[in-house]
Amino acid sequence: MRIIRTKDYRDMSRKAANVISAQVILKPTSVLGLATGTTPIGTYEQLAEWNHKGDCDFSQVSTYNLDEYRGLTHEDPQSYHYFMRQNFFDKINIDLANTHVPDGANPNADEACSEYDRIVREAGYPDLQLLGIGRNGHIGFNEPDDHFSKGTHCVDLTESTIQANSRLFDNADDVPRQAYTMGVQTIMYARSILILASGPEKAQAVYDMCFGPVTPQCPASILQLHTSCTVIADEAALALC
Ligand code: GLP
Repeated sequence: MRIIRTKDYRDMSRKAANVISAQVILKPTSVLGLATGTTPIGTYEQLAEWNHKGDCDFSQVSTYNLDEYRGLTHEDPQSYHYFMRQNFFDKINIDLANTHVPDGANPNADEACSEYDRIVREAGYPDLQLLGIGRNGHIGFNEPDDHFSKGTHCVDLTESTIQANSRLFDNADDVPRQAYTMGVQTIMYARSILILASGPEKAQAVYDMCFGPVTPQCPASILQLHTSCTVIADEAALALC
C-alpha cells in the first residue's frame, strides 16, 4: 500500500483527481469503478472543472459504481444513481449510456446482483477503482463479517452505517435497511485501487486498514494484499498511523 498524507480535504481531493485524470489521459477508454459518499465529492468537483476546461476527457470512459440502496428508484434523490448524476455525470462529457449503478429498483436481489456481475465482468473489471471507507472499515457496502464477500450481493446494513448515513436523510428511519453492493473479490479484481479518507472519525478505520490484521472484520484491510493500492488521506484520518 502506498500512503499519501495530505494537509486537508481539499488537498486530498486535488491529489485524487490528479490520479484519476492521469488514468484517463493515459487510457481514454478507461473503465472506472466509482464510489459515493461525501468523501469523493471534492474529487468529482475537481475533475468536472478540469473536464469543463478541456483537460480531462470522459467521452470514451465507462463507469461502474460500487453500490445502491435496495428499493430506491433511479430518480429518488437519496439514490446513488441520483447522487452520481448530481455530483458528477451531469457535469462532465461522459455518455450516460456508459455509466452503471446496481439497479436498486429491482426487488429481485438475485437477478439485480447477477446482472450487475455480468456487466462488470464483460467490461473486464475496472482499470482504477475509487473507494471511500466506512467508519467500521466497510468498502462499498461490504460490512464487517466473518468472511470476505465475492460478487455483487444484497446486504443488511449495520446499525452504525445506518446512523452514519442518516445525516444525508431527513431521519434515520428513512435510511434503507438493505443495499446491493459489489463484493470484495470483485473490488480486488480492479487493476489499481485508490482509497480516500478524510476526518478524525475515519482514523481508527484507516489505521486498521493499513496496519491491522487482514480480516473480514475490517473489510478494507484486504487492500493490503492488492498489488497496486494507493491511500490518499488527510492528517486527521491518518492521526493514528
Ligand atoms: C457509504 C458508501 C461507501 C462509502 C461510505 C463512507 O456507506 N456505501 O461507499 O465509502 O459510505 O461515506 P462517507 O464518504 O460519506 O464517509
